Amino acid sequence: SEKKLWGGRFKESTDALVEKFTESVSYDKRLAPFDIAGSIAHVTMLAKQGILKEDEAKKIVEGLNEILREIEEGKFEWKQELEDVHMNIEKSLIEKIGPVGGKLHTGRSRNDQVATDVRLYVRHEINEILALLKSLREAFYIQAKKYIDVIMPGYTHLQIAQPVLYAHHMLAYYQMFKRDEERFKDTLKRVNVMPLGSAALAGTSYPLDREFTASLLEFDSVSRNSMDAVSDRDFVAETIFNCALVMAHLSRLSEELILWSTEEFGFIDLPDAFCTGSSIMPQKKNPDVSELTRGKTGRVYGDLVAILTIIKGLPMTYNRDLQEDKEPLFDAIDTVKLALAVNARVVRGMKPKKERMRSQASKGFSLATDVADYLAKKGVPFRDAHRIVGEIVAYCLDNGKTLETMTIDEFRQFSNAFDKDVLNLISVEGSTSSRNIIGGTAKEQVLKELERIESEEGFK
Ligand code: ARG
Repeated sequence: SEKKLWGGRFKESTDALVEKFTESVSYDKRLAPFDIAGSIAHVTMLAKQGILKEDEAKKIVEGLNEILREIEEGKFEWKQELEDVHMNIEKSLIEKIGPVGGKLHTGRSRNDQVATDVRLYVRHEINEILALLKSLREAFYIQAKKYIDVIMPGYTHLQIAQPVLYAHHMLAYYQMFKRDEERFKDTLKRVNVMPLGSAALAGTSYPLDREFTASLLEFDSVSRNSMDAVSDRDFVAETIFNCALVMAHLSRLSEELILWSTEEFGFIDLPDAFCTGSSIMPQKKNPDVSELTRGKTGRVYGDLVAILTIIKGLPMTYNRDLQEDKEPLFDAIDTVKLALAVNARVVRGMKPKKERMRSQASKGFSLATDVADYLAKKGVPFRDAHRIVGEIVAYCLDNGKTLETMTIDEFRQFSNAFDKDVLNLISVEGSTSSRNIIGGTAKEQVLKELERIESEEGFK
């Protein structure tokens, strides 16, 4: 087994099972680009401060860049017995450039190093997630704009409630994913703080210029307490929570698309390229992307519970438990990125079945509220109007009628506040266009909202 960089005080070599149990390089090697960027900034600062000589720093930077190239080309040999990404890179640096490579770690600990790496990684990934969220929002925007005239039933309790515009329904999802963007942006403020200089836990006696290192790495600020900085994983928990909520939103969407694409609903056609067939039933077209999105949401919730549980009992400061932050973090980020990308394309490609949605929109006495509002506007107290229309619905059910097929004489049996104009009122178009209030489903409002979104997001 390899000679450990920390091996000085040890008389026995590490047990092979312990190496296997404690290693993280098999998964934390993805931090390599961030680890190297952090090391280059650190060593540049050490030289500026006169802690290292310029030519020493230069050799180290060249060595690190060479290692980065090897990693990118897949030529770097990762060794499990060197534990983690940090030790693998440092050991290789020393092998490449000799003992001067051992000066890289001056005034630094793996504790502030790993905290820095993970922050750089999370910052990078959040920016990618923000772009994916935007393109998903654009897909909803495109659907809303393209199918602005489609009317569908709106539901509460999964029972037909009131007619709404399909566009309004699409823009409800726009709002969810807009909040997700805001949450990630807010998290970024707490992510973008540099721990380097905290060293193992107490800070360091070297005259480091932390602000300078931070500016090289484009951190907004430096951490204010070394003990907190090496043990804080709030930003990991927050990031995974944000991912979990994105998944919750995608899962709600998925559930609706699964329902909508059934024979029973028949509301949408999903693009063929995003569905799969059955190995036995030739007629099948299954919404597997949506089902897997719904299923993978459970994984990401699991990641969130994992990180919250890992941090809950930790005494100050760094404890090796914290190494377990990475797999849930990576899994949550990988899953949410893939799910966002594939669902943006599903949404872009889906086609509402206009006729079917329209005909279902008036089912289930979906205009009953409009009739009650009609009476209330004629001066009947709303509570009474509600009861009267309830009686009308019961009458319709008993006599196999709908509100649309009620005559004016029938209406007047229930209240003499009814005039002929009630008959024109009873249409899904009339119902949606009457809800002309900010946030309402009237076409006029939805068009205004589309315009607002267009300028907010720069969509064309
Ligand atoms: N692989 C470790 C982690 O991810 C790096 C920090 C190790 N620090 C230590 N004192 N053993 O947490």
